[in-house]
Amino acid sequence: MAQLWGGRFTKETDQMVYDFNASIRFDKRLFKQDVEGSIAHVTMLAKQGILTDAEKKAIIAGLKGIKEDVENGTLPIDYKYEDVHSFVEANLIDRIGDAGKKLHTGRSRNDQVALDMRLYTRGRVLEMDELLKKLLTVILSTMEENIETYMPGFTHLQKAQPVTLAHHYGAYFEMFKRDRQRMKDIYKRMNYCPLGAGALAGTTYDLDRNLTAELLGFDGPTLNSMDSVSDRDYLIEFLSALSMVMMHLSRFSEEIIIWNSNEYQFVEIDDAFSTGSSIMPQKKNPDIAELVRGKTGRVYGALVSLLTTMKGIPLAYNKDMQEDKEVAFDAMDTVSDCITLFTGMLDTMKFKKDNMAKSAMNGFTNATDAADYLVNKGVPFRDAHGIIGRLVLYCIEKDTSIDALSLSELQAISDKFEEDIYDAVSLKTCVEKRLTIGAPGPDVMKQVIALHKEYLDG
Ligand code: ARG
Repeated sequence: MAQLWGGRFTKETDQMVYDFNASIRFDKRLFKQDVEGSIAHVTMLAKQGILTDAEKKAIIAGLKGIKEDVENGTLPIDYKYEDVHSFVEANLIDRIGDAGKKLHTGRSRNDQVALDMRLYTRGRVLEMDELLKKLLTVILSTMEENIETYMPGFTHLQKAQPVTLAHHYGAYFEMFKRDRQRMKDIYKRMNYCPLGAGALAGTTYDLDRNLTAELLGFDGPTLNSMDSVSDRDYLIEFLSALSMVMMHLSRFSEEIIIWNSNEYQFVEIDDAFSTGSSIMPQKKNPDIAELVRGKTGRVYGALVSLLTTMKGIPLAYNKDMQEDKEVAFDAMDTVSDCITLFTGMLDTMKFKKDNMAKSAMNGFTNATDAADYLVNKGVPFRDAHGIIGRLVLYCIEKDTSIDALSLSELQAISDKFEEDIYDAVSLKTCVEKRLTIGAPGPDVMKQVIALHKEYLDG
Protein backbone atom coordinates (compact mmCIF):
# COMPACT_ATOMS: atom_id res chain seq x y z
CA MET A 1 0.00 0.00 0.00
CA ALA A 2 1.37 3.36 -1.00
CA GLN A 3 -1.22 6.08 -1.04
CA LEU A 4 -1.04 9.87 -1.07
CA TRP A 5 -3.30 10.28 1.96
CA GLY A 6 -3.51 8.90 5.52
CA GLY A 7 -3.01 11.82 7.92
CA ARG A 8 -6.55 11.72 9.27
CA PHE A 9 -6.66 7.94 9.60
CA THR A 10 -5.77 6.01 12.73
CA LYS A 11 -5.91 2.56 11.18
CA GLU A 12 -4.39 0.93 8.12
CA THR A 13 -6.72 0.38 5.17
CA ASP A 14 -8.01 -3.15 4.92
CA GLN A 15 -6.02 -4.87 2.14
CA MET A 16 -9.11 -5.93 0.23
CA VAL A 17 -10.52 -2.41 0.44
CA TYR A 18 -7.24 -1.05 -0.84
CA ASP A 19 -7.22 -3.43 -3.79
CA PHE A 20 -10.88 -2.80 -4.57
CA ASN A 21 -10.29 0.94 -4.54
CA ALA A 22 -7.01 0.99 -6.48
CA SER A 23 -7.02 1.74 -10.19
CA ILE A 24 -3.35 1.43 -11.14
CA ARG A 25 -3.89 -1.91 -12.87
CA PHE A 26 -5.78 -0.11 -15.62
CA ASP A 27 -5.05 3.62 -15.29
CA LYS A 28 -1.33 2.97 -15.76
CA ARG A 29 -1.99 3.49 -19.43
CA LEU A 30 -2.59 7.19 -18.64
CA PHE A 31 1.02 7.47 -17.57
CA LYS A 32 2.21 9.60 -20.48
CA GLN A 33 -0.74 11.97 -20.23
CA ASP A 34 -0.21 12.26 -16.47
CA VAL A 35 3.39 13.38 -16.96
CA GLU A 36 2.46 15.71 -19.82
CA GLY A 37 -0.28 17.35 -17.72
CA SER A 38 2.04 17.72 -14.74
CA ILE A 39 4.70 19.42 -16.85
CA ALA A 40 2.15 21.95 -18.10
CA HIS A 41 0.86 22.47 -14.56
CA VAL A 42 4.27 23.28 -13.05
CA THR A 43 5.22 25.45 -16.03
CA MET A 44 2.14 27.51 -15.28
CA LEU A 45 2.73 27.51 -11.49
CA ALA A 46 6.23 28.92 -12.03
CA LYS A 47 5.02 31.57 -14.43
CA GLN A 48 2.47 32.66 -11.81
CA GLY A 49 5.18 32.87 -9.16
CA ILE A 50 3.66 30.00 -7.17
CA LEU A 51 6.80 27.87 -7.69
CA THR A 52 10.34 29.16 -8.15
CA ASP A 53 12.10 28.64 -11.43
CA ALA A 54 14.52 26.22 -9.77
CA GLU A 55 11.66 24.15 -8.39
CA LYS A 56 10.00 24.06 -11.78
CA LYS A 57 13.20 22.90 -13.45
CA ALA A 58 13.81 20.20 -10.87
CA ILE A 59 10.24 18.91 -11.15
CA ILE A 60 10.25 18.87 -14.95
CA ALA A 61 13.63 17.13 -15.07
CA GLY A 62 12.36 14.58 -12.55
CA LEU A 63 9.15 13.98 -14.52
CA LYS A 64 11.06 13.55 -17.75
CA GLY A 65 13.42 11.13 -16.04
CA ILE A 66 10.47 9.06 -14.78
CA LYS A 67 8.98 9.02 -18.26
CA GLU A 68 12.21 7.84 -19.82
CA ASP A 69 12.77 5.15 -17.21
CA VAL A 70 9.24 3.81 -17.56
CA GLU A 71 9.55 3.79 -21.33
CA ASN A 72 12.88 2.00 -21.38
CA GLY A 73 11.67 -0.50 -18.81
CA THR A 74 13.99 0.38 -15.92
CA LEU A 75 11.12 1.73 -13.84
CA PRO A 76 8.19 -0.70 -13.85
CA ILE A 77 4.81 0.71 -12.83
CA ASP A 78 4.40 -0.90 -9.43
CA TYR A 79 0.88 -2.00 -8.43
CA LYS A 80 1.58 -1.11 -4.81
CA TYR A 81 0.57 2.46 -5.70
CA GLU A 82 -3.10 3.34 -5.62
CA ASP A 83 -3.20 4.88 -9.06
CA VAL A 84 -0.98 6.27 -11.79
CA HIS A 85 -1.06 9.74 -10.24
CA SER A 86 0.27 8.42 -6.94
CA PHE A 87 2.93 6.42 -8.76
CA VAL A 88 4.25 9.49 -10.61
CA GLU A 89 4.15 11.80 -7.58
CA ALA A 90 5.76 9.30 -5.19
CA ASN A 91 8.53 8.56 -7.66
CA LEU A 92 9.12 12.25 -8.22
CA ILE A 93 9.53 12.83 -4.49
CA ASP A 94 11.92 9.84 -4.26
CA ARG A 95 13.90 11.26 -7.11
CA ILE A 96 14.11 15.01 -6.38
CA GLY A 97 13.09 15.34 -2.73
CA ASP A 98 11.08 18.22 -1.30
CA ALA A 99 10.53 20.11 -4.54
CA GLY A 100 8.54 17.08 -5.70
CA LYS A 101 6.10 17.62 -2.88
CA LYS A 102 5.07 20.89 -4.52
CA LEU A 103 3.87 19.31 -7.78
CA HIS A 104 0.32 18.89 -6.51
CA THR A 105 -0.05 22.58 -5.50
CA GLY A 106 -3.35 23.94 -6.77
CA ARG A 107 -4.43 20.60 -8.15
CA SER A 108 -6.58 17.64 -7.14
CA ARG A 109 -6.60 14.13 -8.50
CA ASN A 110 -10.12 14.95 -9.62
CA ASP A 111 -9.08 17.56 -12.17
CA GLN A 112 -5.90 15.57 -12.84
CA VAL A 113 -7.74 12.40 -13.84
CA ALA A 114 -10.27 14.45 -15.80
CA LEU A 115 -7.37 15.94 -17.73
CA ASP A 116 -5.49 12.66 -18.25
CA MET A 117 -8.56 10.89 -19.53
CA ARG A 118 -9.40 13.74 -21.87
CA LEU A 119 -5.87 13.88 -23.26
CA TYR A 120 -5.84 10.12 -23.77
CA THR A 121 -9.29 10.01 -25.36
CA ARG A 122 -8.48 12.93 -27.63
CA GLY A 123 -5.55 10.99 -29.05
CA ARG A 124 -7.71 7.97 -29.66
CA VAL A 125 -10.39 10.02 -31.40
CA LEU A 126 -7.70 11.11 -33.87
CA GLU A 127 -6.49 7.52 -34.22
CA MET A 128 -10.02 6.29 -35.07
CA ASP A 129 -10.37 9.04 -37.64
CA GLU A 130 -7.12 7.93 -39.32
CA LEU A 131 -8.14 4.25 -39.28
CA LEU A 132 -11.50 5.12 -40.80
CA LYS A 133 -9.75 7.11 -43.48
CA LYS A 134 -7.66 4.07 -44.43
CA LEU A 135 -10.80 1.94 -44.55
CA LEU A 136 -12.48 4.51 -46.82
CA THR A 137 -9.45 4.49 -49.12
CA VAL A 138 -9.74 0.72 -49.59
CA ILE A 139 -13.51 0.97 -50.14
CA LEU A 140 -13.02 3.71 -52.73
CA SER A 141 -10.43 1.77 -54.71
CA THR A 142 -12.82 -1.20 -54.92
CA MET A 143 -15.53 1.20 -56.09
CA GLU A 144 -13.32 2.60 -58.83
CA GLU A 145 -12.55 -0.87 -60.16
CA ASN A 146 -16.14 -2.11 -60.09
CA ILE A 147 -18.35 0.48 -61.72
CA GLU A 148 -19.62 -2.21 -64.09
CA THR A 149 -19.51 -5.21 -61.79
CA TYR A 150 -23.15 -6.21 -61.62
CA MET A 151 -24.77 -7.80 -58.62
CA PRO A 152 -28.26 -8.11 -57.22
CA GLY A 153 -29.49 -5.42 -54.86
CA PHE A 154 -31.70 -6.79 -52.10
CA THR A 155 -34.63 -5.77 -49.98
CA HIS A 156 -35.81 -8.23 -47.31
CA LEU A 157 -32.77 -10.28 -48.46
CA GLN A 158 -34.83 -10.98 -51.60
CA LYS A 159 -33.41 -9.99 -54.95
CA ALA A 160 -34.86 -6.60 -55.86
CA GLN A 161 -33.08 -4.68 -58.61
CA PRO A 162 -29.63 -4.95 -60.12
CA VAL A 163 -26.90 -2.71 -58.74
CA THR A 164 -23.12 -2.68 -59.03
CA LEU A 165 -20.42 -3.53 -56.55
CA ALA A 166 -19.30 0.12 -56.70
CA HIS A 167 -22.78 1.19 -55.70
CA HIS A 168 -23.06 -1.35 -52.88
CA TYR A 169 -19.66 -0.35 -51.47
CA GLY A 170 -20.66 3.28 -51.91
CA ALA A 171 -23.31 2.82 -49.24
CA TYR A 172 -20.61 1.84 -46.74
CA PHE A 173 -18.47 4.76 -47.87
CA GLU A 174 -21.28 7.07 -46.74
CA MET A 175 -21.56 5.33 -43.35
CA PHE A 176 -17.87 5.48 -42.53
CA LYS A 177 -17.66 9.05 -43.80
CA ARG A 178 -20.36 10.01 -41.29
CA ASP A 179 -18.41 8.13 -38.61
CA ARG A 180 -15.40 10.32 -39.34
CA GLN A 181 -17.55 13.44 -39.12
CA ARG A 182 -18.71 12.28 -35.70
CA MET A 183 -15.07 11.94 -34.59
CA LYS A 184 -14.37 15.49 -35.70
CA ASP A 185 -17.46 16.81 -33.88
CA ILE A 186 -16.50 15.04 -30.67
CA TYR A 187 -12.96 16.35 -30.86
CA LYS A 188 -14.18 19.90 -31.25
CA ARG A 189 -16.64 19.68 -28.36
CA MET A 190 -14.28 17.92 -25.93
CA ASN A 191 -11.18 20.00 -26.57
CA TYR A 192 -11.37 22.15 -23.43
CA CYS A 193 -9.03 21.80 -20.49
CA PRO A 194 -10.41 20.81 -17.05
CA LEU A 195 -7.08 21.36 -15.24
CA GLY A 196 -7.43 24.04 -12.58
CA ALA A 197 -10.89 22.91 -11.51
CA GLY A 198 -9.27 21.47 -8.39
CA ALA A 199 -11.30 19.02 -6.35
CA LEU A 200 -14.54 20.71 -7.43
CA ALA A 201 -14.46 24.42 -6.61
CA GLY A 202 -11.33 25.75 -8.28
CA THR A 203 -8.41 26.79 -6.07
CA THR A 204 -7.31 29.77 -4.06
CA TYR A 205 -4.08 30.01 -6.05
CA ASP A 206 -3.87 32.45 -8.92
CA LEU A 207 -3.73 29.79 -11.64
CA ASP A 208 -3.54 30.75 -15.30
CA ARG A 209 -5.94 28.23 -16.76
CA ASN A 210 -5.64 29.74 -20.22
CA LEU A 211 -1.94 28.99 -20.20
CA THR A 212 -2.24 25.32 -19.21
CA ALA A 213 -5.02 24.91 -21.78
CA GLU A 214 -2.78 26.39 -24.44
CA LEU A 215 0.29 24.37 -23.42
CA LEU A 216 -1.74 21.17 -23.75
CA GLY A 217 -3.25 22.05 -27.11
CA PHE A 218 -6.78 22.75 -25.91
CA ASP A 219 -9.02 25.45 -27.35
CA GLY A 220 -9.43 26.98 -23.88
CA PRO A 221 -10.27 26.12 -20.27
CA THR A 222 -13.60 24.56 -19.26
CA LEU A 223 -15.93 27.11 -17.66
CA ASN A 224 -17.40 25.38 -14.62
CA SER A 225 -15.19 23.62 -12.13
CA MET A 226 -17.89 21.25 -10.83
CA ASP A 227 -18.76 20.15 -14.33
CA SER A 228 -15.06 19.88 -15.24
CA VAL A 229 -14.33 17.18 -12.67
CA SER A 230 -17.53 15.24 -13.21
CA ASP A 231 -18.10 15.47 -16.94
CA ARG A 232 -17.72 12.24 -18.88
CA ASP A 233 -20.06 13.29 -21.71
CA TYR A 234 -17.23 13.32 -24.22
CA LEU A 235 -16.43 9.74 -23.37
CA ILE A 236 -20.05 8.70 -23.73
CA GLU A 237 -20.21 10.50 -27.07
CA PHE A 238 -17.07 8.71 -28.18
CA LEU A 239 -18.42 5.32 -27.08
CA SER A 240 -21.62 6.11 -28.91
CA ALA A 241 -19.73 7.00 -32.09
CA LEU A 242 -17.63 3.85 -31.68
CA SER A 243 -20.82 1.81 -31.26
CA MET A 244 -22.03 3.26 -34.53
CA VAL A 245 -18.73 2.33 -36.21
CA MET A 246 -19.18 -1.22 -34.92
CA MET A 247 -22.79 -1.33 -36.10
CA HIS A 248 -21.58 -0.41 -39.59
CA LEU A 249 -18.71 -2.88 -39.50
CA SER A 250 -21.07 -5.55 -38.23
CA ARG A 251 -23.57 -5.02 -41.06
CA PHE A 252 -20.75 -5.15 -43.59
CA SER A 253 -19.37 -8.28 -41.90
CA GLU A 254 -22.77 -9.92 -42.10
CA GLU A 255 -22.89 -9.25 -45.84
CA ILE A 256 -19.42 -10.65 -46.34
CA ILE A 257 -20.37 -13.78 -44.41
CA ILE A 258 -23.40 -14.19 -46.69
CA TRP A 259 -21.40 -13.46 -49.85
CA ASN A 260 -18.75 -15.93 -48.73
CA SER A 261 -21.29 -18.72 -48.12
CA ASN A 262 -21.41 -21.80 -50.37
CA GLU A 263 -24.83 -20.71 -51.60
CA TYR A 264 -23.74 -17.25 -52.75
CA GLN A 265 -20.08 -17.57 -53.65
CA PHE A 266 -19.72 -13.88 -54.48
CA VAL A 267 -16.37 -13.48 -52.71
CA GLU A 268 -13.27 -15.35 -51.69
CA ILE A 269 -11.71 -14.17 -48.43
CA ASP A 270 -7.93 -14.29 -48.53
CA ASP A 271 -6.29 -17.27 -46.77
CA ALA A 272 -4.43 -14.85 -44.50
CA PHE A 273 -7.78 -13.57 -43.19
CA SER A 274 -9.57 -16.92 -42.84
CA THR A 275 -9.36 -19.84 -40.45
CA GLY A 276 -9.94 -23.59 -40.74
CA SER A 277 -11.84 -26.26 -38.84
CA SER A 278 -10.24 -28.81 -36.54
CA ILE A 279 -12.48 -31.57 -37.87
CA MET A 280 -13.73 -30.60 -41.33
CA PRO A 281 -10.76 -30.39 -43.69
CA GLN A 282 -12.69 -28.58 -46.43
CA LYS A 283 -13.61 -25.58 -44.27
CA LYS A 284 -12.38 -22.04 -44.69
CA ASN A 285 -14.30 -19.86 -42.31
CA PRO A 286 -14.90 -16.09 -42.27
CA ASP A 287 -13.91 -15.81 -38.60
CA ILE A 288 -12.66 -12.22 -38.79
CA ALA A 289 -15.99 -10.99 -40.10
CA GLU A 290 -17.80 -13.06 -37.47
CA LEU A 291 -15.60 -11.75 -34.67
CA VAL A 292 -16.10 -8.15 -35.76
CA ARG A 293 -19.86 -8.81 -35.77
CA GLY A 294 -19.56 -10.47 -32.37
CA LYS A 295 -17.41 -7.81 -30.73
CA THR A 296 -20.03 -5.19 -31.53
CA GLY A 297 -21.86 -6.37 -28.41
CA ARG A 298 -19.05 -5.52 -26.05
CA VAL A 299 -18.66 -2.01 -27.48
CA TYR A 300 -22.40 -1.37 -27.06
CA GLY A 301 -21.92 -2.81 -23.57
CA ALA A 302 -19.28 -0.19 -22.76
CA LEU A 303 -21.63 2.59 -23.84
CA VAL A 304 -24.55 1.31 -21.76
CA SER A 305 -22.22 0.62 -18.84
CA LEU A 306 -20.93 4.19 -18.69
CA LEU A 307 -24.34 5.76 -19.30
CA THR A 308 -25.64 3.71 -16.39
CA THR A 309 -22.67 4.53 -14.15
CA MET A 310 -23.15 8.24 -14.74
CA LYS A 311 -26.90 8.45 -14.41
CA GLY A 312 -27.16 8.61 -10.62
CA ILE A 313 -24.06 10.60 -9.76
CA PRO A 314 -24.66 13.88 -7.90
CA LEU A 315 -22.20 16.70 -8.48
CA ALA A 316 -19.29 16.71 -8.36
CA TYR A 317 -16.64 13.94 -8.40
CA ASN A 318 -17.66 10.52 -7.06
CA LYS A 319 -15.57 7.39 -7.14
CA ASP A 320 -18.12 5.69 -9.40
CA MET A 321 -16.46 7.58 -12.22
CA GLN A 322 -13.32 5.49 -11.91
CA GLU A 323 -15.47 2.84 -13.61
CA ASP A 324 -15.23 4.80 -16.87
CA LYS A 325 -11.79 3.47 -17.63
CA GLU A 326 -11.82 -0.28 -18.08
CA VAL A 327 -14.89 -0.33 -20.31
CA ALA A 328 -13.75 2.66 -22.35
CA PHE A 329 -10.23 1.31 -22.84
CA ASP A 330 -11.58 -2.08 -23.85
CA ALA A 331 -13.97 -0.49 -26.36
CA MET A 332 -11.22 1.70 -27.86
CA ASP A 333 -8.83 -1.25 -28.22
CA THR A 334 -11.56 -3.43 -29.68
CA VAL A 335 -12.68 -0.89 -32.28
CA SER A 336 -9.12 -0.07 -33.26
CA ASP A 337 -8.38 -3.78 -33.88
CA CYS A 338 -11.68 -4.34 -35.67
CA ILE A 339 -11.24 -1.45 -38.13
CA THR A 340 -7.64 -2.48 -38.83
CA LEU A 341 -8.41 -6.16 -39.43
CA PHE A 342 -11.56 -5.45 -41.39
CA THR A 343 -9.63 -3.09 -43.67
CA GLY A 344 -7.00 -5.78 -44.30
CA MET A 345 -9.69 -8.36 -45.03
CA LEU A 346 -11.44 -6.07 -47.54
CA ASP A 347 -8.19 -5.13 -49.18
CA THR A 348 -7.32 -8.76 -49.95
CA MET A 349 -10.81 -10.12 -50.70
CA LYS A 350 -11.48 -11.31 -54.28
CA PHE A 351 -14.79 -10.99 -56.08
CA LYS A 352 -16.33 -13.75 -58.19
CA LYS A 353 -17.82 -11.37 -60.68
CA ASP A 354 -19.42 -14.03 -62.92
CA ASN A 355 -21.36 -15.46 -60.01
CA MET A 356 -22.44 -11.98 -58.98
CA ALA A 357 -23.69 -11.10 -62.47
CA LYS A 358 -25.41 -14.48 -62.89
CA SER A 359 -27.17 -13.98 -59.59
CA ALA A 360 -28.25 -10.48 -60.67
CA MET A 361 -29.77 -11.93 -63.83
CA ASN A 362 -32.12 -14.35 -62.18
CA GLY A 363 -34.71 -13.61 -59.53
CA PHE A 364 -36.58 -11.14 -61.79
CA THR A 365 -34.38 -8.18 -60.79
CA ASN A 366 -35.43 -6.60 -64.12
CA ALA A 367 -39.16 -6.74 -63.37
CA THR A 368 -39.35 -3.04 -62.41
CA ASP A 369 -37.56 -2.14 -65.62
CA ALA A 370 -39.99 -4.25 -67.64
CA ALA A 371 -42.85 -2.30 -66.03
CA ASP A 372 -41.07 1.00 -66.78
CA TYR A 373 -40.74 -0.18 -70.40
CA LEU A 374 -44.52 -0.49 -70.65
CA VAL A 375 -44.95 2.92 -69.02
CA ASN A 376 -42.79 4.36 -71.79
CA LYS A 377 -45.17 2.74 -74.28
CA GLY A 378 -48.07 4.62 -72.70
CA VAL A 379 -49.34 2.08 -70.13
CA PRO A 380 -50.15 3.65 -66.70
CA PHE A 381 -47.67 2.40 -64.07
CA ARG A 382 -50.25 0.61 -61.92
CA ASP A 383 -51.49 -1.36 -64.98
CA ALA A 384 -47.92 -2.07 -66.05
CA HIS A 385 -47.19 -3.39 -62.53
CA GLY A 386 -50.12 -5.82 -62.87
CA ILE A 387 -49.08 -6.98 -66.35
CA ILE A 388 -45.49 -7.67 -65.27
CA GLY A 389 -46.76 -9.43 -62.15
CA ARG A 390 -48.68 -11.84 -64.38
CA LEU A 391 -45.62 -12.18 -66.60
CA VAL A 392 -43.48 -13.12 -63.59
CA LEU A 393 -46.04 -15.71 -62.54
CA TYR A 394 -45.96 -17.16 -66.07
CA CYS A 395 -42.15 -17.33 -65.92
CA ILE A 396 -42.19 -19.02 -62.49
CA GLU A 397 -44.58 -21.68 -63.82
CA LYS A 398 -42.36 -22.25 -66.86
CA ASP A 399 -39.14 -21.96 -64.81
CA THR A 400 -37.73 -19.25 -67.05
CA SER A 401 -36.94 -15.50 -67.00
CA ILE A 402 -38.48 -12.44 -68.65
CA ASP A 403 -35.59 -11.96 -71.07
CA ALA A 404 -35.74 -15.63 -72.17
CA LEU A 405 -39.36 -15.46 -73.34
CA SER A 406 -40.13 -15.23 -77.06
CA LEU A 407 -41.71 -12.06 -78.39
CA SER A 408 -44.97 -13.90 -79.08
CA GLU A 409 -45.10 -15.17 -75.48
CA LEU A 410 -44.58 -11.58 -74.31
CA GLN A 411 -47.16 -10.20 -76.69
CA ALA A 412 -49.69 -12.76 -75.51
CA ILE A 413 -49.61 -10.86 -72.20
CA SER A 414 -49.37 -7.32 -73.62
CA ASP A 415 -49.41 -6.15 -77.22
CA LYS A 416 -47.16 -3.24 -76.21
CA PHE A 417 -44.09 -5.49 -76.16
CA GLU A 418 -41.78 -5.06 -79.15
CA GLU A 419 -38.31 -6.25 -80.12
CA ASP A 420 -36.64 -3.49 -78.04
CA ILE A 421 -37.89 -5.11 -74.79
CA TYR A 422 -34.83 -7.38 -74.74
CA ASP A 423 -32.40 -4.49 -74.56
CA ALA A 424 -34.60 -2.67 -72.05
CA VAL A 425 -34.45 -5.53 -69.55
CA SER A 426 -30.79 -6.47 -70.01
CA LEU A 427 -28.63 -6.19 -66.90
CA LYS A 428 -26.49 -3.49 -68.47
CA THR A 429 -29.46 -1.32 -69.43
CA CYS A 430 -31.15 -1.78 -66.07
CA VAL A 431 -28.06 -0.34 -64.34
CA GLU A 432 -27.14 2.24 -66.98
CA LYS A 433 -30.58 3.81 -66.93
CA ARG A 434 -30.35 4.56 -63.24
CA LEU A 435 -28.61 7.85 -63.69
CA THR A 436 -29.88 10.20 -61.02
CA ILE A 437 -27.34 11.23 -58.39
CA GLY A 438 -26.95 8.44 -55.82
CA ALA A 439 -28.01 5.68 -58.25
CA PRO A 440 -25.73 2.94 -59.65
CA GLY A 441 -25.55 4.20 -63.28
CA PRO A 442 -21.87 4.30 -64.33
CA ASP A 443 -21.78 7.98 -65.34
CA VAL A 444 -23.23 9.24 -62.11
CA MET A 445 -21.14 6.73 -60.15
CA LYS A 446 -18.01 8.27 -61.68
CA GLN A 447 -19.14 11.71 -60.51
CA VAL A 448 -19.70 10.42 -56.98
CA ILE A 449 -16.31 8.71 -56.95
CA ALA A 450 -14.67 11.98 -57.99
CA LEU A 451 -16.35 13.70 -55.01
CA HIS A 452 -15.16 10.95 -52.67
CA LYS A 453 -11.60 11.37 -53.95
CA GLU A 454 -11.71 15.07 -53.32
CA TYR A 455 -13.03 14.40 -49.81
CA LEU A 456 -10.25 11.93 -49.01
CA ASP A 457 -7.53 14.19 -50.44
CA GLY A 458 -8.84 17.26 -48.61
N1 ARG B 1 -8.53 6.76 -9.81
C1 ARG B 1 -9.43 7.88 -9.74
C2 ARG B 1 -10.36 7.87 -10.93
O1 ARG B 1 -10.10 7.21 -11.88
C3 ARG B 1 -8.67 9.14 -9.67
C4 ARG B 1 -9.33 10.26 -8.96
C5 ARG B 1 -9.34 10.00 -7.52
N2 ARG B 1 -9.89 11.06 -6.78
C6 ARG B 1 -10.32 10.90 -5.53
N3 ARG B 1 -10.76 11.91 -4.93
N4 ARG B 1 -10.31 9.73 -4.97
O2 ARG B 1 -11.39 8.51 -10.96
